Amino acid sequence: MLNDHILSEKVAIITSGGDAAGMNPAVKSAADYALKNGMEPYLVEWGLRGLIEGWIKPATPERLSGIIHRGGTALGSSRSKRFYEYKFREQAYNHLQEFGISKLVIIGGNGSFNALNQFYVDFEVPFAGIPATIDNDIPGTDYCLGVDTALNMIRASVDSIRDTASSFSRAFIIETMGRDCGYLAMTSALATGAEVCLVPEIEYDLEAIGERLREQRAAGNKYILGIVAEGTGMGEPLTRWMGDALGMDSRLTVLGHVQRGGSPTVYDRIMAFKFAGAAIDNLRAGETNKVVTFKAGSFGSSSIHEIADTQHECDPELIELVRGLSC
Ligand code: F6P
Repeated sequence: MLNDHILSEKVAIITSGGDAAGMNPAVKSAADYALKNGMEPYLVEWGLRGLIEGWIKPATPERLSGIIHRGGTALGSSRSKRFYEYKFREQAYNHLQEFGISKLVIIGGNGSFNALNQFYVDFEVPFAGIPATIDNDIPGTDYCLGVDTALNMIRASVDSIRDTASSFSRAFIIETMGRDCGYLAMTSALATGAEVCLVPEIEYDLEAIGERLREQRAAGNKYILGIVAEGTGMGEPLTRWMGDALGMDSRLTVLGHVQRGGSPTVYDRIMAFKFAGAAIDNLRAGETNKVVTFKAGSFGSSSIHEIADTQHECDPELIELVRGLSC
């Protein structure tokens, strides 16, 4: 992989935090693009834990081939609590020194970016961030890698549940991931034609929902689909309420980690290539601690401070479209 020409800088690529489809194409294209632009790419295995342990390897073709279509992260990931302690960050820095690595690309979420920002404060190792989390909750960017793949997994699951819900005339509540963000729930509720959607962003009114659903039942609606974001904690209560208030046989499906897996969609692959190119360009331009963003259809970047100081807000138009499903 190392060409004859002299490669000036060494850059290490890390995937960190919750895995997301699109991480693998981002790793591969960041490594390829770095090499093409005179940087020597390395891979850190098992996220920030691997940085502490020095699990760092050259980005050889063998390590990069055959990963674009794979879900999750071929490098492995971790949520490392030890990285919060200075002595472990120092250990990580010493490993980078051993390899002569002077720059980092981190593919992950808010927690990972903040961790590397602290690392920069300690040791001045610049990083470029690529937003990747199915939660789509990183301030400053409309899109994070993994979201489209997760939405398609949810859509396929809800379509299947619709088959059994209609066969038994049941109410089904489906809980999506997203931590405190209702993006996955709202988008999939619209895309699957759910009758109910509860998310942290919208105040809900169970009485009004009950009245609306009773009317729909009287008009001939045989089954109900409700999508609930995990951040509301309403999966079980809403399922029980469906039984009590509507007298329907009701079931809860918690989709869980199935939403995080699966081969990245075409959209996630292409976005990964674009995010990765922009991240390497940021490092080449001497930028420090910027996260690549995709806003209103254009790529840009935000400083880690802008991201850390901003509260994430979901698209208000999406919220308005969903509001009618919460009352
Ligand atoms: O951040 C991604 C996410 O999948 C959240 O939606 C979810 O709350 C959390 O990670 C689950 O974390 P873990 O994989 O550690 O159980």
